[in-house]
Amino acid sequence: MDINYIHNWIKHRLNEERYLHSLGAEETARELAVQFSVDVEKAALAALIHDNAKCIPYEDVLQIIKENNFSIDENIKSNKKVVHAYLGALLAEKELNIKDEDVLNAVRFHTTGRPNMTMLEKVVFLADKIEANTRELDFREEVLNILNKTGNIDEAVMLCIGRTIHSLVDRKLMINPITIEVWNYYL
Ligand SMILES: [Fe+2]
Ligand SMILES: [Fe+2]
Repeated sequence: MDINYIHNWIKHRLNEERYLHSLGAEETARELAVQFSVDVEKAALAALIHDNAKCIPYEDVLQIIKENNFSIDENIKSNKKVVHAYLGALLAEKELNIKDEDVLNAVRFHTTGRPNMTMLEKVVFLADKIEANTRELDFREEVLNILNKTGNIDEAVMLCIGRTIHSLVDRKLMINPITIEVWNYYL
C-alpha cells in the first residue's frame, strides 16, 4: 500500500500531537531498524501506525470491538491504557489490509512489550518510547547511549519497562500482568 495513503489515514485518526509522535516514531524506527538489521520499511510502517486507535474515546473502543466481533482478552479490554494497541492492530488489518503478522504484532505489543519479542517488535516498542518529537529527550539519550555502548537492545527494553513500572506505581495505576511478565522475562 502507498505510504502517502497511510500517512493520510493516520493523520485523520489522530490529534496533532499524536500525529507528530507517530512521525517521530517512524523516523526513530527507521534508524533503529538499520542499527539492528530489521526490514526498514516494515519498521517504519508499524511505528507510523502504532497509535492509530489512541484517540478513540473508550466507550467507542468498546463499541468498535463489539460491532466487529474483535476478539480481545477481557483483561486487555478493561485496561484503557493498553487496549488501543490491540485494537490498533485489528484496525490496521481491517482498514489497511495489512496481513504481515510481525507488523501487526509490533503494533499490538507496542505498549506492554511481551516475552520473546521479535527484533521488529523491539524496534517499534523502543521507537514509541524514545522518538524525538514528543518524548523526553534525556530519556531518549539514555536509551540511545545504552544501545550504542552495549549494542544490546534487550537492555534498552528493560530500561523502558522498568521506567513504566516506576511511573505506574508513582501514579497509583494498575500494572498489567504482562508488564510484570515482560520485566521478569528480560531480567
Ligand atoms: Fe500507544
Ligand atoms: Fe505511541
